[in-house]
Formats: sequence, structure tokens, C-alpha cells
Amino acid sequence: SATKPPTMRRPVPPEMLERGECPFDPPAVLAEKAPVSRLELVNGAHAWVVTGYEQGRAVLADTRFSSDNVRNRSAMDLRPDEVGEARCPVDVPQRDDGRFIFMDPPEHTRLRRLLTGQFTVRRMQLLEERIREISIEHLDAMRAAGNEGDVVPAFALPLPSLVICELLGVDYADRAEFQEHTGIALNLTKSDEERAKASESIYAFMRKLVAHKREHPADDLVSGLIHGDADPALTEQELVDIATVLLGAGHETTANMLALGTFALLEHPDQLALVREDPAVLDNGVDELLRYLSIIHIGPSRVATEDIEVGGVTIPAGDTVLISVPQANRSAEHWPEPERLDLKRPRTPHLAFGHGVHQCLGQQLARSELRVGLAELVARLPEVRLAIPAEEVPLRTDMLVYGVHSLPVAWS
Ligand code: HEM
Repeated sequence: SATKPPTMRRPVPPEMLERGECPFDPPAVLAEKAPVSRLELVNGAHAWVVTGYEQGRAVLADTRFSSDNVRNRSAMDLRPDEVGEARCPVDVPQRDDGRFIFMDPPEHTRLRRLLTGQFTVRRMQLLEERIREISIEHLDAMRAAGNEGDVVPAFALPLPSLVICELLGVDYADRAEFQEHTGIALNLTKSDEERAKASESIYAFMRKLVAHKREHPADDLVSGLIHGDADPALTEQELVDIATVLLGAGHETTANMLALGTFALLEHPDQLALVREDPAVLDNGVDELLRYLSIIHIGPSRVATEDIEVGGVTIPAGDTVLISVPQANRSAEHWPEPERLDLKRPRTPHLAFGHGVHQCLGQQLARSELRVGLAELVARLPEVRLAIPAEEVPLRTDMLVYGVHSLPVAWS
């Protein structure tokens, strides 16, 4: 069956990829824009960029703004050299049956409801125990290897990938293979061809997983979807797509929050000290990190299905809208001193997990991974510090998910 190349380069307004002096701040140029502004692109096309918090929330709450990826893509179909580009490494091959993140109601509603039923409190609690074990295992391995290491490959990438294995019910024997494919797919030092091959392997892996769970159901999400009360039953293709969407949405995001979150703590010693004193500061503190770092720095994106007014501006039918989550999450009306990282801030709703019908399905799981992962990292790498100057940490300005490509650290 036809697949498009898994390495997609999505055109984006170049303003959204810029960075200021501080690696954690949104591009300064966005702060000067109106809450809803039309960005001209060099070839005469345009996109609407929403930098206001209220306006961003309004767009995400309004299902007249479509998530349909095909519509979105045609609206954004510009040559990368014309408008700048960003790379989306693990893209799902273009088979649309179960890619609910790109669907609109009512099709989206049916799949979302089935998925929500699998993210039970009990399952999340069991996963939290595993998150702790996996974290400790990887941090101990870092320590066993010496006094220096790179947080990205040694901790931030494997933890969320193994948590998705737990969620989906991947057998222990198959995890090395799964880890290898997901590692290559996200590794930019590999060629496009190698990464494309790894993405295809992930897809084939999911196909085998679904077939296996049909014969050998266990206490996991995939078995739950197959043997649950879906009516009509989910098709093979839907199940494979759903599993792949969960990996695509849950791996790179969490990995980058773990690594960039570590970097942010190391650059804010007062905040790091708070975590050392009492890791419970992360109970609310992870939401402050999510707000402050807002790693989804391009999008969520939507397409207007009719003329829609947002914040006094009419967005014409067919136009693309990109929410600037980093800028919206720095709204001075919602957070005093929004540019400050303050783990003790009271929890206030932010847009880091989106809003509305597509609001992050894995947010409780992501919070557990951040809370437990960061607490264990601070506890188990004594006096953890950057091993290179902060200015030399390679930033992911070229990716759809912001973060760091690597984070060399040292400990005592
Ligand atoms: C949706 C962020 C972790 C699964 C979203 C959206 C955002 C987001 C902004 C909304 C997209 C849109 O409106 O178009 C994040 C961040 C994470 C994270 C920042 C980590 C810190 C996870 C994890 C999982 C997950 C761990 C699951 C294993 C999903 C799914 C959707 C989604 C399935 C689509 C929901 C739908 O379309 O109904 N996420 N996410 N995410 N996320 Fe997350």
C-alpha cells in the first residue's frame, strides 16, 4: 500500500522558529504581534498566528476549526525553501483510518471515547510504579558508566518509549527491537533513508502487536481496545493507526520535556534547589515547567471550515491557523511575571496540552513521567550540572517539537 516518506518537512512561518537570547523564551518577534495576526509568506501565501491566550483557547474550543491534516497540509503546501521548514521525525505513514488526532467530530469523538476508556486511574497508577523503576534503572546505568553522560539518549528518549511499551503491552522480549526503531526514527544524525526505514519498521511492529493481542489478550491498552465493547469493532487498520498515533504523540513530546526540563532546572539553581529539598514541589511544578517551556512551538494547527471571527479578526474559510503555545502561555493577564520560572506558582490552566476536544489524551501519563523522572534524576545524579557551556547546548529550533538535541551533564 502507498506510503509517503515518513520524514516530513512542514513549511512554517520562519518567525515561529526564531529564538531570543534565552533558550527558554519564545521568539521576541512574536511578542510584538497582535493576538491574532496574519503572517505573509514569501510566495504570497499566508497563515494566521494566534499569540493571545484567550484567542488560542477560543480557536481550540471551536470545532469549526478543523484538525484534518489533509486540509491543513494543502493549505500549507509551500516549498520548504520558500517559508522555512521544520522536521517531524516520526511521522505516521499516510493511512488515515485511526489517526484521530487529525480527525474532526463525529469521527474523532467515536475513537477518542474508546481511547479515554483505556486511560483508567488504575492503569495510570500501575504505570507510575513502572515509570519509577524504569527511571531508576536508567539513572543507575548512567552512574555506573562514569561521572558524565548525555541525558537525551541515556534517559529522556528511552523512558517515554518504554512507558509506551508498557501502555501498549509490548512483550519484554520485543522491547529492544522497539527501542532500536524508535531511537533511529528520532535520531537526526541518521540519514533520512535510515529514519524512513525505522518508521516503516515501527508500523510493521504495530501490525504484529495488534495481531498478537488478538490471539493473546492481556491487561493493556491494545488488548482493551480489541476485546472491549467497541461497536462496530475497531478494524485492523484503525488499531495499528491508534497505536502509532500514541507513540507519535507521546514519545518525542515527553522526551523533550524531560531533557529541556532538566536544562531549565540546571539554569535556574534556585528552582533546582527547591526540587532537591522537596520533590513534591513538582506536583504543581511540572505544570509550571510545561507552561514555561511550551515545547509545541509550532501549532497545534487548524483550518477554518467557514469564516470565523476570533478576537475581532475574521479568519476566512480555508485559511490555516497556528497557535503559538509558547507566546500564549506567557500571557501577563494570566500569570504575574510570566517570563519567570516559578515552580511554586499556583496551578493555572495553560495551553501546553492544548484545549478542547483534542486536548492531550496522555496528559496524566506525561505528568507522571515528568514528576517521577525529574525527581529521580535530581536525586540520583548528585550535584548534577551541565558539562558544556549553556550556549553550546544544541537547540531543536529546526523541529516541530522544541527541546535539545543533546544535554551533556556531569555529576559527582
Ligand atoms: C494531543 C501535548 C504527552 C497522547 C496533544 C496536544 C498537545 C499535546 C498540545 C493537542 C494537539 C492538537 O490539539 O492538535 C503533549 C505534551 C506532552 C504530551 C507537551 C508531554 C509533555 C503525551 C503522552 C501521550 C499523548 C505521554 C500518550 C502516550 C496524545 C494524544 C493526543 C494528544 C493521543 C491526541 C488527542 C486527540 O486528538 O483527541 N498532546 N502531549 N501525549 N496527545 Fe499529548
